Amino acid sequence: MAPMLAVTFTGLRFENPFLLSSAPPTESDANIMRAFDAGWGGVVTKTIGLHPVVNVDGPKTKFLRATPDSPRISMQKRPGTALHSSWNWELISDKPLDWWVPRITKIKKAYPQRILVASIMAGSGSDDELRNWQKLATACQAEGADALELNLSCPHMDRKDMGSNIGKDQGLISIVTEVVKEVAKVPVWAKLTPSTTDIVEEARAAFLGGADAITSSNTFPSIPLIDPETLEFEMNVDGFVSSGGLGGPAILPQSLAKMAQMTRAFPEKSFSGIGGISDFAQALNYFLLGCGTVQVCTAAMLDHAVGPNVIKRLVQGMGEFLEKNAGRGWRKLEDFRGLRRDRVVSHSQIRRPEDSDYHGGYEVYEGYAEPAEPAAGRPPRS
Ligand SMILES: Cc1cc2nc3c(=O)[nH]c(=O)nc-3n(C[C@H](O)[C@H](O)[C@H](O)COP(=O)(O)O)c2cc1C
Repeated sequence: MAPMLAVTFTGLRFENPFLLSSAPPTESDANIMRAFDAGWGGVVTKTIGLHPVVNVDGPKTKFLRATPDSPRISMQKRPGTALHSSWNWELISDKPLDWWVPRITKIKKAYPQRILVASIMAGSGSDDELRNWQKLATACQAEGADALELNLSCPHMDRKDMGSNIGKDQGLISIVTEVVKEVAKVPVWAKLTPSTTDIVEEARAAFLGGADAITSSNTFPSIPLIDPETLEFEMNVDGFVSSGGLGGPAILPQSLAKMAQMTRAFPEKSFSGIGGISDFAQALNYFLLGCGTVQVCTAAMLDHAVGPNVIKRLVQGMGEFLEKNAGRGWRKLEDFRGLRRDRVVSHSQIRRPEDSDYHGGYEVYEGYAEPAEPAAGRPPRS
């Protein structure tokens, strides 16, 4: 039987489990429709808010690249490099709700079978601000948005009651989620910040508020590097920078660690994984940890802005993976989802060598100095 790529996630049927995340690839109706044509199973719109948005004077995103066989990492464009990460300080959509509303209708009319998730964000410092969440939620779902993603994770907000500052406050996470759930007729996903001590606590707060799923990760707080020649930050406005967000390959292991914590703590809940995905091998990590969908930003930005080749690779990779594992009876994501979730355990549960094998750290491992003396009872290394 042919492998099946379709999945059901928070009650919604996706043609495949690969989504474009809320970011530049989904900043317009034109982009979103191109993305659907390219084959993405769903998209999350660039975050829609009610406050006026003015971005910094200059580039909003740049890409850090590594030189092979060299320690150099830099935003400077040069040949023969490999992508390390994206760095951005872009705010949410600079288009107002009125701009988005007719476009959501238009997209859903043109692609009724594709899943369109509206990412929304407001403040939380007053009842009026909380009502803004409801206003955004009702407007987007009335136009046909299939789900809502609450942006509790934008890392660039100065306001204490917005973005990742909500995501760092368990009380506010629960309140905002609950307020949206009061009016939501569609599933509500909470996008959390990775920038907390124990993300399990923030996930618990979101589930307490009624979230149907958690999305993670948003970008990791970071600043651009300083150019050793000019002594200026590689990205700056008038010489100044502020903390922005790191995405792309560099955050894959960190984002997986956050995800593993949450899927272990809440194995029955739904999770959408993001961070450093550009082909199926990386997406597979999230699926094996228990995610039901995954989302992509950086890789798509660098592939014709909406990732036509990325989605082709993801779909092809999943098809090949299912075919290769058909003998195990795997025909769909549910057959292997979460298979490695229970392999992430606390450090003390990791087996130690038997006493007789233990050489007190005298084994040679990459990154460690040569031991000064051979282990007792062992011949010296030649
Ligand atoms: C330029 C840029 C803008 C972004 N804007 C948003 C946004 O408006 N809302 C949001 O929830 N996440 C936003 N993100 C975060 C991405 O959706 C995603 O969580 C992050 O980039 C990690 O995924 P990646 O490793 O595939 O890039 C943005 C990321 C970038 C690079």
